[in-house]
Amino acid sequence: HRTGAAAGGLAAALTALALLAGGCTEATGGVLGTPGAAGLRDPYFPKLGNGGYDVGHYALTLAYDPGTGRLDGTAEITARATQDLSAFNLDLAGLTVDRASVDDAPAAVNRAGNELTLRPREEIREGAEFRTTVTYGGVPEPITDADGSREGWLRTDDGAVAVGEPAGSMTWFPGNHHPSDKAAYELRLTVPAGLEGLSNGVRTARRTAADGRVTTEWHTAEPMASYLATVAIGRYETASAAPGSGTVPVLTAAERPIADATAPLRDEIPEIVARQARRFGPYPFSTAGAIVTENEALGYALETQTRPVFPASAFDRTTLVHELAHQWFGNSVSPASWRDLWLNEGFATYAEWLYTEEYEHVPARTHFERAFAQETNWAFPPAAPPTAENLFDPPVYQRGAMVLHKLRETVGDRTFDEILRGWPAKYRHANASTDDFTSYAESVAGRDLDELWDVWLYGDGKPAKP
Ligand code: ARG
Ligand code: ZN
Repeated sequence: HRTGAAAGGLAAALTALALLAGGCTEATGGVLGTPGAAGLRDPYFPKLGNGGYDVGHYALTLAYDPGTGRLDGTAEITARATQDLSAFNLDLAGLTVDRASVDDAPAAVNRAGNELTLRPREEIREGAEFRTTVTYGGVPEPITDADGSREGWLRTDDGAVAVGEPAGSMTWFPGNHHPSDKAAYELRLTVPAGLEGLSNGVRTARRTAADGRVTTEWHTAEPMASYLATVAIGRYETASAAPGSGTVPVLTAAERPIADATAPLRDEIPEIVARQARRFGPYPFSTAGAIVTENEALGYALETQTRPVFPASAFDRTTLVHELAHQWFGNSVSPASWRDLWLNEGFATYAEWLYTEEYEHVPARTHFERAFAQETNWAFPPAAPPTAENLFDPPVYQRGAMVLHKLRETVGDRTFDEILRGWPAKYRHANASTDDFTSYAESVAGRDLDELWDVWLYGDGKPAKP
């Protein structure tokens, strides 16, 4: 009896547990549901991005009125659910959402800070593709970064320029705003008569309506991290260059007063891209270019995909080489998280050093020694910025490039060249982390490089010898 009672008790306890477990599943599946996470826990920006789905395509239709500063938009986002979804989030800062739907059925919308929560009428099943449409508008407000710089939708005298690194794209369209979720884009932009609209990718249409308004359409087929999306509106003059052998079509733009002065350097783009392709492998996108604005609301250049943007004051050959190098390093191979930013900036800075070495008679070693002597480069190790405020500080750029130069000196030029070409090939149109890079470099070198990483990539302070 005793044993029986004990066994019965155990069975009852197991049944209760099973019921409890079953009850839980019921509650999460049916009553509470399984919402996607509100952030992707990036080490610096935990709320950026959203869990539970993967965007494949954004179709953005935008109309901007520079007079009032008002932006009206529709975002059509095609995504695949990576879990059952009773609700999911999009990142959007400011602006007003007029309505939202999922697969053409109205969805409930809730707003909390920069998190937009959409609850579709029916739960989305894991693996299903679904289409979300958000109609929104308002006067976009830029974001002030931890380091004091401004990003997002930056208003100019007669237009705007949108830059989004790291978090600014949520000021002008709702999305999954973390670099780990890359997607293709279609963007249709309407601007008032007399103005020109520009964006990333291939311009597939340009038409002028009876009232003079200009609509352009832009297609970005290759995956793009949302921080690399851009729009520029103003009195731009455009210039295109037909593809030469092995190059892609180039479309550049500059605001009218600086169009002539910037034309010679804009004309160098096909050649610089071709030179970089010889070192880094085939150019990863189907078009290239640059957008130069005279408005200094933009305090820095940004490598926006296929068509980097520059304030006129930063449109020089070194910066152009840097932003074009990002097309391989950062745009095609994108950081897995913002902690891996040195993989963007260290490589783009090293690309500057390589360029002067090959074409301007200044060896990379000279840049390395100069950087070594700069105290500001030793504030922290490149792979571990202490806070979001330090993300774009000199160690990420200069010490990042120093890591690459030390790697080159350690493995030799031949192996280093193989890494320079092989890395963007291996992670083409994907994401990669610092660990991915160190493992890859070791696999090409055929040996362990721990000491190099310990000192140059992760070490605090300055090594005794350069
Ligand atoms: N990635 C840009 C460059 O080419 C710099 C962006 C700076 N952004 C910022 N929020 N401070 O170096
Ligand atoms: Zn850069």
